[in-house]
Amino acid sequence: MEPLRLAVLVSGRGSNLKVILDAVAGGALEASVVGVFSDRVEPPAFEWARRHRVPVLTVVAGETERRAAYDARLAGAVLGVRPQAVVLAGFMRVLSPVFLEAFPDRVLNIHPALLPAFRGLDAQAQAVAAGVRFSGCTVHFVDAGTDTGPIILQTVAPVYPEDTADTLAARILAKEHKTCPAALQLLAEGRLRIRDRRVLIDWDGRQPRSPRDSVAEWQDSTGSWL
Ligand code: GRF
Repeated sequence: MEPLRLAVLVSGRGSNLKVILDAVAGGALEASVVGVFSDRVEPPAFEWARRHRVPVLTVVAGETERRAAYDARLAGAVLGVRPQAVVLAGFMRVLSPVFLEAFPDRVLNIHPALLPAFRGLDAQAQAVAAGVRFSGCTVHFVDAGTDTGPIILQTVAPVYPEDTADTLAARILAKEHKTCPAALQLLAEGRLRIRDRRVLIDWDGRQPRSPRDSVAEWQDSTGSWL
């Protein structure tokens, strides 16, 4: 199987990018990161890309540039590396159909909440303010809405009374770092289908916790994912 060609879009820190690159390097993710793109100049994430010798490109929006014009420019740049899928890993812009139509059902996002709860910005602060006992992360396909696309995998994280947005974000981030490469490996193995806005996963008869597995763990201790 040829490795899945991935483009990754970032805006900042890049810890999910790092985890993806490490999973590729370690053989846990049968993919190849063929380009890393940012809407901001020199984000910390680029450092991880450079260490893995992945080309980086910044596409900054002009002050008066319309969203559609920017998205078309970004899509053109990303198409240049011929990706089979695009991962939004902390990319801070909402992408319009102009971008999405260039990669139909092939754009994935990682969101730090259990969607459809707490869409949009500051999901961890929203969870703390709402007093929920559990939150977590979601990897989903991107559609034209904000954090509304078909859900691939979710992992639960507890929320404690003393949590701040920051302490919860750190707990959720650890879950993201497992869930994101796992979802990408399922995509790489051709196990994901979208039907009626739901993602069907072909587990091929395998049980959660099966010892095989380029996907490191099918299920974590909270019972998430299945
Ligand atoms: C993550 O919390 C992700 O869920 C959200 O943005 C953050 C990106 O973090 N979409 P990083 O840049 O991958 O460290």
